[in-house]
Amino acid sequence: MESIWTQTTEIQSYDKLTEDMTADAVVIGGGMAGILTAYKLTQNNIDTIVLEASRIGSGQTKNTTAKITSQHDIIYSRLTEDFGEDLARQYAAANENAIREYKRIIEKENIDCNFEEKPAYLYSQNQQDVKRLQDEADAARELGIDAEYTTETHLPFSVAGAVKFNNQAQFHPLKFLKEIAKGLTIFEDTRVIKVEEDTVFTETAKVRAKHIIFATHFPFINAPGFYFARMHQERSYVLALKGAAKLDGMYLGVDDDGISLRNFDDMLLFGGGNHRTGENSAGGKYDFLRAKAKEFIPQSKEIACWSAQDCITLDGVPYIGQYSSSVLNWYVATGFAKWGMTSSMVSAMIISDMILGRENPNAEVFSPSRFTPSASTKTFIEDLGQTVKGLARQFFTFPDEKAERLRAGSGGIVEIAGEKVGVYKDEEHKLHIVSVKCPHLGCQLEWNPDEKSWDCPCHGSRFDYRGNLIDNPAQTNLERIDTSQS
Ligand code: FES
Repeated sequence: MESIWTQTTEIQSYDKLTEDMTADAVVIGGGMAGILTAYKLTQNNIDTIVLEASRIGSGQTKNTTAKITSQHDIIYSRLTEDFGEDLARQYAAANENAIREYKRIIEKENIDCNFEEKPAYLYSQNQQDVKRLQDEADAARELGIDAEYTTETHLPFSVAGAVKFNNQAQFHPLKFLKEIAKGLTIFEDTRVIKVEEDTVFTETAKVRAKHIIFATHFPFINAPGFYFARMHQERSYVLALKGAAKLDGMYLGVDDDGISLRNFDDMLLFGGGNHRTGENSAGGKYDFLRAKAKEFIPQSKEIACWSAQDCITLDGVPYIGQYSSSVLNWYVATGFAKWGMTSSMVSAMIISDMILGRENPNAEVFSPSRFTPSASTKTFIEDLGQTVKGLARQFFTFPDEKAERLRAGSGGIVEIAGEKVGVYKDEEHKLHIVSVKCPHLGCQLEWNPDEKSWDCPCHGSRFDYRGNLIDNPAQTNLERIDTSQS
């Protein structure tokens, strides 16, 4: 289940950190946000080191649909109401500037990365969404975006209405990342285990730096910052199809089960099936997309499928800026929702300006210390409820489904000798048994049959069926139970 980006790019590998170092800045995380921030700092003569636990671009950057847009679902009408016009205008300007900045860097560095300027559309097939699409077009235009309401699209099905943003873009994220990483100081296979004041400790050595940037998708330090209490994670799924007609732009459905579409080369990326991480025990998300593809584009042929994970903040706006008021030299970039590529550039621009002592006129709306009561309270209570539910599950008895009843290739929670454990039966009928207690804060994990993974409903950590960590904020693997007798 490799994305087409991974299938079409080879990125050089970098050494592991083996000796203590010092630098002006250290970036934790070698995804798009981390590499772009390091690129901008290095361009401004700030000596910067990137520490990546695995390989650069191997996290969510390889799974994105790689749209570069200021169009982030229906957001501008809501932001104007919840944040006020000034802050909503900052959000619009920051994201429009990010599109232009990608273009500038690609031209300056002469990067061949399938960069194409295209319009982006939000659409709905439901008549009852027309008013909110019209309101979104009005709100976006008020904030300076070249936006219009339309009923004309190139989609292979009819729509009730759509919002079109002009001058947006799409690209190949790994081809871009690979080029801007050249010339940076990067260490791979170097997992950070703790951070204290100006020192970052890895499993093998430490780095001291004046500035420390957390670009780790989900911050793994619980306190200060308490990001686990103000974000949750969601998953979504993508098919790459051949045989579909070319679209004029990028599309996102705003109705329930709306589909995201964009072309890459001679393929169509066809995405959807969103759900909160840890809430897909019934599975069927890829099947849902395949059924929709068959309905809308019956002549198409699937050539790849993969999934992505996104962090969602309480008010839907990323947290970019100072990590916490108690650690002035730490910075964070997280909570990008489904808009990771544009938000990565916004983060790099804001955090590099902060470190360089330059004022960024669009930073305030992203400040992690903000709290907008009307937008945040409801989501905070929902997220807290989810955490309590996840913790409470451990004290209830679950159906005593016996491991031997599992079909080959399936998994589930069973009780063995009074203990709840996660069991996966592989194709050879071998049982893989792991603890289902999340090592982050102890919530009970749920089985995700689409990915054959154990997913946490509280803050979104994920593990493969062998218990290996896939997604943070957890930092360790699951406890494994010896299956040599099975
Ligand atoms: Fe926080 Fe699992 S990710 S408890």
